Amino acid sequence: MRSAVLLSVASALVVTTSATDAPDVTGNPSNIGYTAIIPSSGPISGEILIFAPNTGNGATVQVNLQNLPTTGGPFAYHIHALPVNSTGSCESTGGHLDPYTGTTPCNTPTPASCQVGDLSGKHGTVPYSSLVTNYGDAYLSLVADTPAFIGNRSFVVHDASGARIACANFVFHNGGGYSGPGSGAGSAAPTGSVGGGNSTGGTAPSKTGAVPSFTPMGAASVMGGAVGGVLGIVAAVGAALL
Ligand SMILES: *[C@@H]1O[C@H](CO)[C@@H](O)[C@H](O)[C@H]1NC(C)=O
Ligand SMILES: *[C@@H]1O[C@H](CO)[C@@H](O)[C@H](O)[C@H]1NC(C)=O
Ligand SMILES: *[C@@H]1O[C@H](CO)[C@@H](O)[C@H](O)[C@H]1NC(C)=O
Repeated sequence: MRSAVLLSVASALVVTTSATDAPDVTGNPSNIGYTAIIPSSGPISGEILIFAPNTGNGATVQVNLQNLPTTGGPFAYHIHALPVNSTGSCESTGGHLDPYTGTTPCNTPTPASCQVGDLSGKHGTVPYSSLVTNYGDAYLSLVADTPAFIGNRSFVVHDASGARIACANFVFHNGGGYSGPGSGAGSAAPTGSVGGGNSTGGTAPSKTGAVPSFTPMGAASVMGGAVGGVLGIVAAVGAALL
């Protein structure tokens, strides 16, 4: 009986796991997050915060974009595979995060078939000049060395022509959401400046102390940026953009 069940599960997997379906991510650590803050040098402002709910299943995404152009939309936004390079060029970020060769354009009703990084394909573009939203996404990983890991990537905003009009790197921080311990999906995006340094739900982690126990691959030291690091990097990128 049991083996029959297992067999049917196995065959179901064979049938349903097409080459393009992203698997649901489980086991995401809920005590950390990654935030990409658009440098203040350009007209567009905002940030994207990605952390995990307490279940560890998938990720919660909070997007706050302001001052987008009044024409040229709707605006798409994605996680790109590569970080922004030292010159701050959004062209340096490669293509979308796409470990399972998803389809483009994304078929919104079947998000597993979409590119993992195609957030606006899965969750909607920005029709007007601003967007404040949050949602769950089942396919984003916060665990380094997994295919759908977002932590060493970048966030890129496009206009309707595809031009890259803003970008920022994800930076690790301790604490999941900014709204305090245990805040998870459904919490409102905080008002004011996310990443302002004092609302991060924890003391600024020291660089040497940033070896969280959750990381199975020992890669935490690579990601051991502190909140101060966020601001420093943003400042550096912003300066480079000027
Ligand atoms: C950054 O990326 C841009 C666009 O791809 C490229 O032209 C430039 O040479 C790169 N700069 C560095 C320092 O890698
Ligand atoms: C980012 O992390 C993934 C998974 O660990 C890895 O495969 C990829 O090479 C990394 N990319 C960069 C640009 O470091
Ligand atoms: C945090 O707030 C305190 C006072 O509320 C202030 O003294 C300190 O400079 C702030 N730190 C940062 C990083 O903004």
